[in-house]
Amino acid sequence: MGIKIKGAGAYLPEKIATNEDFEKIVDTSNEWILKRTGIKQRHISQGEFTFSMGLKAAKQALKNANVTAQQLDLIIVTTVTADFYFPSMSNVIQGKLGAENAIGIDISCACAGFVYALDMAQRYIDFGDGINTVLIVSAENMTKTVNYKDRSTCVLFGDGAGAVVVEKGENKAYSHLGVDGTQAELIYAHLFAPNNCFTEKEEALKNSKVFPNETGRFMFMDGPVVYSLAVKIMASSLKKACEKAKISPNELDLIIPHQANIRIIETAIKKLGVQKEKVYVNIEKTGNISSACIPVCLAQILKEGKIKENQKIGLVGFGAGMIYGATVFTF
Ligand code: UT7
Repeated sequence: MGIKIKGAGAYLPEKIATNEDFEKIVDTSNEWILKRTGIKQRHISQGEFTFSMGLKAAKQALKNANVTAQQLDLIIVTTVTADFYFPSMSNVIQGKLGAENAIGIDISCACAGFVYALDMAQRYIDFGDGINTVLIVSAENMTKTVNYKDRSTCVLFGDGAGAVVVEKGENKAYSHLGVDGTQAELIYAHLFAPNNCFTEKEEALKNSKVFPNETGRFMFMDGPVVYSLAVKIMASSLKKACEKAKISPNELDLIIPHQANIRIIETAIKKLGVQKEKVYVNIEKTGNISSACIPVCLAQILKEGKIKENQKIGLVGFGAGMIYGATVFTF
């Protein structure tokens, strides 16, 4: 029992915001952003719906996988920036693709979304009750949560989508997943406040002390604390996934980490003792696109022909929650 990645696709909006553009918006510099994060530019959606970006990546993934929409049994969408409370994005994408035989589920696992979705896809496939072909779509409109007055977060994020077609295969993916919900207040963005015509002001005021809402719908992030947790979590999670797969991290041919900060990636990789040449990084061009980072990287790697059959791949992500996860599989 196991899975096989059949193909991948990516979509990044045309509009690009460079570090120089940010110099005009907040008190920052290209030098600071590049040195502290590794980011040079990010793609910005100009009012495009999240599902629309996901749909474009999905169509490309299906084409590259040589799979028709009708062959899909399950669509999993990962996003923290959905367009609607309801319907779910997977349902909208199912309809737009004409994937009439597929069921659809959305998951909200922040930047670890793709790793969780891949694990879920394998579990569905392994269960053996008719789900054999799964489309995972990770689509994010991060810039709609960005406060362009907060220099410590606004320079980090971009928009885009990645999609992957997964089928039943011979190689098992070994995952290590985790959550530390005690750290949930380190990164968050509010949806609309739970107000209705019966809401009493005193009660609402009391509730607003948890996850304070001074930033309105924009994101809050305690960057330095997240940074130090992320370094530890990335290294330990990937190590534990490798232990499950009974290999050492050194035996991985390729590692695709969540693209939050080049310094987080480099420090985590150093902790693992893995050669940095094995690590795929595109943060310079995309910034942090939350759950879309890893599948966008996968699509780019496949397009560049950088993965060969039987190579061992490690994926690792972490994000708001704090949620984290790593998976190790043979391509
Ligand atoms: O995907 C999920 C999770 N997100 C992350 O993984 C992000 C994790 N955190 C980070 O990547 C880093 O903490 C940041 C990139 C957010 C910040 O980098 P840092 O090296 O941790 O900087 P800092 O927050 O400790 O700030 C150092 C200085 C401060 O100035 P003072 O107080 O030393 O005068 C900040 O105000 O850098 C200042 N600063 C900036 N300066 C110029 C913060 N942002 C900027 C900026 N431009 N954009």
